[in-house]
Amino acid sequence: MVSSLDGFIAKKDGSVSWLRSTDYYSKGKSLTAEEMEQFNASIDCYVMGSRTYQHALELGWPYGETPVVVLTHRKLSSDRKNIKFSAKDPTALVNDELKSKFKNIWMVGGSKLAKEFLRLDLADDIVIAFMPILLGDGLLFFDFIGKEQRLHLKDVTAYSDGMVELWYEIKN
Ligand SMILES: NC(=O)c1ccc[n+]([C@@H]2O[C@H](COP(=O)([O-])OP(=O)(O)OC[C@H]3O[C@@H](n4cnc5c(N)ncnc54)[C@H](OP(=O)(O)O)[C@@H]3O)[C@@H](O)[C@H]2O)c1
Repeated sequence: MVSSLDGFIAKKDGSVSWLRSTDYYSKGKSLTAEEMEQFNASIDCYVMGSRTYQHALELGWPYGETPVVVLTHRKLSSDRKNIKFSAKDPTALVNDELKSKFKNIWMVGGSKLAKEFLRLDLADDIVIAFMPILLGDGLLFFDFIGKEQRLHLKDVTAYSDGMVELWYEIKN
């Protein structure tokens, strides 16, 4: 999840220009196109809510041919063969269907679905990247998951555009 420092993952109007930082941090890491490709290739399946799916379509589909499961209660359809729509209970979807097929499953978001996955103990790790901005308002990632969860910090990476990524394992 990419977040502003004040915890918002999307602006109220849905605009995403804030995701492109103009900051510069001299000690930060710069990712090469090859490293980004390798990272994307390590993901076996994406899961997302229907609003995130529709937003991704508007912005230009970034998930290529990797399998994607979109959770929705509506009858949506796509010409892309790698996109599947599901209204399954998330626990059944992950444990009975996806876990046996895919090793690295990436829950893209948005806020609604990410919170549901955390509440239902379906996530192993949380990767949150803070952009150097305060948005002041918008869609919060971390409001009221409703329970306490201990985390183990696995990695921290600061990037040259001022983004700081924290990688946590959820200790259940
Ligand atoms: N900054 C980031 O890293 C980041 C990452 C991801 C998304 N986002 C942004 O977050 C925003 C969307 O987030 P959001 O919280 O509004 O929506 P969302 O989580 O993407 O989608 C919510 C929708 O998914 C469907 N859904 C949720 N749980 C379900 C379940 N258990 N079974 C079946 N369907 C289910 C419902 O849609 P139906 O009405 O279709 O049933 C629900 O309204 C977008 O602006 C997106 O760009 C930001």
